[in-house]
Amino acid sequence: MAEELDKTRVPQHIAIIMDGNGRWATERNKPRSYGHQAGVDTVRRITSECVRLGVKYLTLYTFSTENWNRPVDEISALMGLVLSSLEDEIFMKNNVRFQVIGDIQRLPREVQDKLRETMKHTSRNSAMTMVVALSYSSRWEITKACKAITKEILAKSGNKSISKDELANLITEENINGHLETAFMPDPDLLIRTGGELRISNYMLWQLAYSELYFCNTYWPDFDENDLHKAISSFQNRQRRFGRTEKQVENEKQDTE
Ligand code: IPE
Ligand code: IPE
Ligand code: MG
Repeated sequence: MAEELDKTRVPQHIAIIMDGNGRWATERNKPRSYGHQAGVDTVRRITSECVRLGVKYLTLYTFSTENWNRPVDEISALMGLVLSSLEDEIFMKNNVRFQVIGDIQRLPREVQDKLRETMKHTSRNSAMTMVVALSYSSRWEITKACKAITKEILAKSGNKSISKDELANLITEENINGHLETAFMPDPDLLIRTGGELRISNYMLWQLAYSELYFCNTYWPDFDENDLHKAISSFQNRQRRFGRTEKQVENEKQDTE
């Protein structure tokens, strides 16, 4: 339980691939949308628990670019759920700021309006930022960033005093980072995927470069506070080396203590 966790080493940013809603419903002889509805309750519980633990960013993969290929009925049910679940009260009660990443222009107009409204109403909340990835995929995001950088380079190259090298030097990790949808937040420390699949499914490919990965079989509607604690506990028992040796990391830790 929470007491066993080291409160000083809670991940700053947790990203979650919330998978397994459909199978959860199918096992109960219910329509898939019933599973998505149950998944919304899990989002509420996990959000409150993350706030309580002091997590600063929670990034939830809610609808991928590839999910547009699902049956239209299921897409409509999901869009309906996004609309109905965005209640200001929940964000205000938990002091949570709401943000969206993804190609939101593809979403129905009323969903877009609701998202913008919720972002505006919650913009001053400061305990945690909850980011919902909607109509999002990493390849879409990286492609968009490349296009934006190219446009900037072309705009600058209109000015003859800039050399080709100077223009090429605009391609830096920092500049790419700055053009991603996630530019406003740090990379995830911990990625959790529920539902048993061992893949990333086009989620934050760039940003997950050094995240700790945690996979569990629990379907998202069944994922609870205890499961979250297990994931964080697993995170806390790992050594993040970022390419260095075990010893180097240990020495650095001692130096800062
Ligand atoms: C995740 O659950 C939610 C979305 C992708 C929208 P799924 O709907 O993928 O559930 P399974 O994987 O089919 O069980
Ligand atoms: C990933 O789940 C996307 C979301 C959770 C929104 P999927 O169920 O779409 O992933 P795949 O198709 O099994 O890889
Ligand atoms: Mg799935």
